[in-house]
Amino acid sequence: MRSRLTLGADVSYALVAELPEHAAPIERVLARAFGPGRFAKTSERVREQGAVFEPALSRVAINDAGAVMGVCRIWRVRAGVELYFLGPLAVDPDEQMAGLGAALTRAAVDACRANGGNGVVLVGAARFFQPLGFSLVPLGAIALPGPVDWGRFLWCELRPGGLSAARGPLSAPR
Ligand SMILES: CC(C)(COP(=O)(O)OP(=O)(O)OC[C@H]1O[C@@H](n2cnc3c(N)ncnc32)[C@H](O)[C@@H]1OP(=O)(O)O)[C@@H](O)C(=O)NCCC(=O)NCCS
Repeated sequence: MRSRLTLGADVSYALVAELPEHAAPIERVLARAFGPGRFAKTSERVREQGAVFEPALSRVAINDAGAVMGVCRIWRVRAGVELYFLGPLAVDPDEQMAGLGAALTRAAVDACRANGGNGVVLVGAARFFQPLGFSLVPLGAIALPGPVDWGRFLWCELRPGGLSAARGPLSAPR
């Protein structure tokens, strides 16, 4: 799966599914975007607790020189029903504020929808994700393995009624 994103007159990226060869450059983008606090986050606990990585639904942004400049990873999880977990989302600091983060998110969510799914959950900034179709998870509906700021716990339904039976602890998919 591959699409092309053009930002401005002369900047364009390919948005592609993640491949093993992207792993090392993605680590560099994550380190530059997040800094050293990244592994303390509750999202990391979710991924450690048996979430199944979905490289074919994840999206990597590659510039015209072939360099990885952003990533949006997708995992399969379960909370009453099968769900997708989005994260990390990161854009290299040199490329931020040009629309790449939003485009990566849209492309990954579209891939999840095309794959057939109930919904996508994530922990992130509501101001960034609400315009992309995410809304706050109702207080207490889903339990995360670690402290959660309910103002940053968001979900997006992928089909009508897809989230109506979503509840309980977020855990590994079946
Ligand atoms: C968050 C991130 C992926 C956004 O990527 P980006 O390419 O800069 O984002 P875009 O250019 O598509 O969108 C920019 C918009 O998002 C807003 N935005 C960007 N980062 C934000 C943040 N952390 N919190 C709230 N809003 C944010 C900007 O203010 C801007 O809004 P505007 O268009 O109304 O001015 C990028 O800033 C990043 O890698 N940050 C560090 C890692 C991180 O915090 N990831 C998110 C965790 S889920």
